[in-house]
Amino acid sequence: MAPTPSQSNAQACREFVPTLHTTPYPAIDPSAVRLPCPYVVCIVGGRGAAGGGLARSYARAGASGIILAARTRSALEDTASEVRNINPTVKVIVAECDITSAASVEALASTTKAAFDGRLDVVLVNSGYSGPMTADVVQESPIDFRTAFEVNTIGTFHAAHCLLPLLLDTESGAKAFVAISSMATPTISGHTHYCVSKAAQARFVEMLHEQYASRGVFCVSVHPGGLKSEFSEKSMPKQFHHREWIRQFCPEGADLTQTLA
Ligand SMILES: NC(=O)c1ccc[n+]([C@@H]2O[C@H](COP(=O)([O-])OP(=O)(O)OC[C@H]3O[C@@H](n4cnc5c(N)ncnc54)[C@H](OP(=O)(O)O)[C@@H]3O)[C@@H](O)[C@H]2O)c1
Repeated sequence: MAPTPSQSNAQACREFVPTLHTTPYPAIDPSAVRLPCPYVVCIVGGRGAAGGGLARSYARAGASGIILAARTRSALEDTASEVRNINPTVKVIVAECDITSAASVEALASTTKAAFDGRLDVVLVNSGYSGPMTADVVQESPIDFRTAFEVNTIGTFHAAHCLLPLLLDTESGAKAFVAISSMATPTISGHTHYCVSKAAQARFVEMLHEQYASRGVFCVSVHPGGLKSEFSEKSMPKQFHHREWIRQFCPEGADLTQTLA
């Protein structure tokens, strides 16, 4: 069977760009970007390590509107304060949302539409779930397997189903749908509930591209790199940082330990 784009892309990922960076560099400094105005971004999973970082970066780049959506209102309010401190002109909306619920994501779409007169430039699906890493499927929890699919895969469908129409209806909008994925998906052979649900998410985003690229929508899955977060503290034990421990997850030929160096 021919590899899907996500599989062949992963194999070639070390050659994806000519230069590999291990620290931020000027070309990706959000302060150096001037986004068009208006420019409205909705971040599902808009708090925490990656979500907070995305929100702060869009504030620095001059977004005019940011919707921060997740289940924990108090933490979203903290991120909203940080965003307002960075850019007092940005309009920030906090929306409680559980991405596993179609009704909750529909409500998010209505809130977004009402707050920004129907404008939406970018959807970022950053929410993610993982139970503890294990190399043995017998030891994996059925509840973790189900929850991973509900958050990572079905949740991404809900976001596309409810928010793509706003992207399409925004005249001269950026029209971007971005899902935060993981390089664990194509590279390791344990931790199946996380990797398989994120692989399904990546294939789903490829299909969005197949369906919507001709209508000007940019659809992409992004690997954020390793982040210290609530998510990683819960899913990855401290031994994760030791090469011998992580090797048990790597199929022959793959060396994930290099990415942790
Ligand atoms: N950490 C890493 O090393 C790493 C590596 C590769 C990929 N990633 C990916 O990066 C993304 C962000 O993770 P992180 O490390 O930044 O973790 P984090 O700080 O714990 O953030 C997780 C985010 O997901 C949200 N979320 C979880 N369940 C949700 C639900 N049912 N509905 C709506 N939002 C939900 C959380 O908000 P609430 O809990 O308030 O809902 C929070 O905003 C995830 O997709 C993860 O798979 C992380």
